Order: sequence, then structure tokens, then C-alpha cells
Amino acid sequence: MKTRYELIYTSTLTSDTSISEVAEIARVSHRYNKSRQIAGLLLFDGERFCHYLEGGREDVTALMRKIEGDKRHENIVVRYEGENPGPRLFPNWSMGYVLMRQGRRLDRFEGVSGFAAVELLLELQDMWEITWFDMG
Ligand SMILES: Cc1cc2nc3c(=O)[nH]c(=O)nc-3n(C[C@H](O)[C@H](O)[C@H](O)COP(=O)(O)O)c2cc1C
Repeated sequence: MKTRYELIYTSTLTSDTSISEVAEIARVSHRYNKSRQIAGLLLFDGERFCHYLEGGREDVTALMRKIEGDKRHENIVVRYEGENPGPRLFPNWSMGYVLMRQGRRLDRFEGVSGFAAVELLLELQDMWEITWFDMG
């Protein structure tokens, strides 16, 4: 059985990237993530991203290297990464794109690291305005 490696990072959209690009990233990502059995949950508040990734260790770290080199965002901070036993948190999709409800900011991740980042992500669930999920 493949290990379950989890990673959470936060970043901000670069000023020269349009917001419409974000939905496009989510749309395009699902094919790649699915092919690697990676589940991604990308939260976006209009300015900041918080991205949760889970999958095999090699697959997740290889994807993260690609994401780190992407000029459409900056201030990338890995808040948590680790290998965990147990079932996946999000077994049913390859890419979820979540827009935060009006006025709900992702700045609460500032200074948060370790497993607390996973807990915060789950705690914010009632502020999710789920816009798109690939259930493939
Ligand atoms: C915030 C953010 C999240 C991204 N998430 C993913 C993802 O989950 N899967 C993916 O394949 N690409 C994702 N990308 C896009 C990658 O950075 C990269 O552009 C894409 O994988 C194509 O890379 P390639 O041209 O080297 O194949 C993301 C980009 C950004 C800015």
C-alpha cells in the first residue's frame, strides 16, 4: 500500500496574475493529480492560497517542486508535511477548489505550523464556499 504523505503550504497570488487564472489552475491540475493519485484541496480567498496535498511521498514532493517554481504565486511557506498512517482525509477527489466565503481570509495561517495547520484547515470548513470538485 502506498504511504500517505500530507503537505500544506500557503502562498499569495502575484500581483500580475489575474484571479481567473486560479480556476484555470484548479481545472488543469486535476488530470495530473489524478494520474498520480494525489488529492488536492486548494483554498483561495481572493489573495491567499492554502493548499492541502495528500498522496505518495514521492508524488507529493515532486508536485510540490513544480508548484514552488510557479511564478503565479509567491511567499510560499510549507506549514506542515509528514507521513501518516490511516486513511486519507479526502479519498474521493483529485482536486477540490474552494473559494472562501465573502470576507473570510486565510491570514489565520500566519505563524501556524505543524499538525495545527491541518487542524486549522478543517476548522475553517464552515467558511468554505465549495465551487468545484473533481470526483473522478
Ligand atoms: C497555487 C497553485 C497550485 C497548484 N496546484 C497544482 C496541482 O495541484 N497540480 C498540478 O498539476 N499543478 C498545480 N499547479 C500548477 C503547477 O505549478 C504547474 O504549472 C503545472 O503542474 C504544470 O507544470 P509543468 O508545465 O512543469 O508540467 C498549481 C499552481 C499554483 C500557482
